[in-house]
Amino acid sequence: MNVLWVFAHPEQASLSGSLRDEGVQALVEAGHEVRMSDLYAMKWKAVVDRDDFPEETSPQLRVTTASRRAYEAGTLSADIRGEQEKLAWADLVVLQFPLWWYSMPAILKGWVDRVFVKGFAYGVTDPSDGRTLRYGEGTLAGKRALVVLTAGSQEPAFGPRGINGQLDLALFPLLHGTLWYTGMSILPPVAVYGADRVSAEDHAAAVSLVRSKVLSAEQDAPLPYRSQNGGDYDGDLVLRGSLAPGLSGLGVHYHPGA
Ligand SMILES: Cc1cc2nc3c(=O)[nH]c(=O)nc-3n(C[C@H](O)[C@H](O)[C@H](O)COP(=O)(O)O)c2cc1C
Repeated sequence: MNVLWVFAHPEQASLSGSLRDEGVQALVEAGHEVRMSDLYAMKWKAVVDRDDFPEETSPQLRVTTASRRAYEAGTLSADIRGEQEKLAWADLVVLQFPLWWYSMPAILKGWVDRVFVKGFAYGVTDPSDGRTLRYGEGTLAGKRALVVLTAGSQEPAFGPRGINGQLDLALFPLLHGTLWYTGMSILPPVAVYGADRVSAEDHAAAVSLVRSKVLSAEQDAPLPYRSQNGGDYDGDLVLRGSLAPGLSGLGVHYHPGA
């Protein structure tokens, strides 16, 4: 399988850096091909601005329109085109980062903002019936996405009643709102907890976790999100009242019992 590993940590000699090296090594040893986007090492530009669309002449920049136009014309800046080419090649996309303020470091958010442009990652319709393809369908359908993160908090604090919220729900904007939105299948996130105080034993356990999860990513069951166009949502994209009756909150967007 072709694996794109996107790494967002400023320090190579970090826990995150060592887990990346181990995960990549495991994949390569198993015969997979891995390409790396080490965002800090690449000095990835994290903000969208006019420089991303060198040919854009309109006086008022509308990013959705300008990015689609530039994507279709092949005139997006070269760093964005390079990442899109890697994504198109990948069967599995690993996003690895330390959890910062419940989310990914800004450099990775900026990678998504700049690379996932309209036409490439979203904003496409089914030519046969005009339906917008998103949440389970879309241009990146068929690919798998795996988030690997380290977090300072201990595991119970990310459990069902933990103060941080359950991890997959705390990551809903990334897992559901971004990756599932583009059509990818989303694997359960892999987390190394208590990452600010790691004994040699903890480190060995973390290495073994990351190695095993990247190796099983081809077979593991993705999160059972409901698809937008599968009939579960009404015309306003609201979950039908007959499904998960009386319930609300992010958990209703999972198929029950899957
Ligand atoms: C700016 C910043 C924000 C952080 N926010 C969180 C957070 O929201 N939740 C959490 O559990 N840990 C948080 N942490 C702790 C980091 O997740 C932790 O330091 C990191 O995962 C350790 O891995 P590393 O040694 O590879 O950097 C934060 C750390 C920093 C520096």
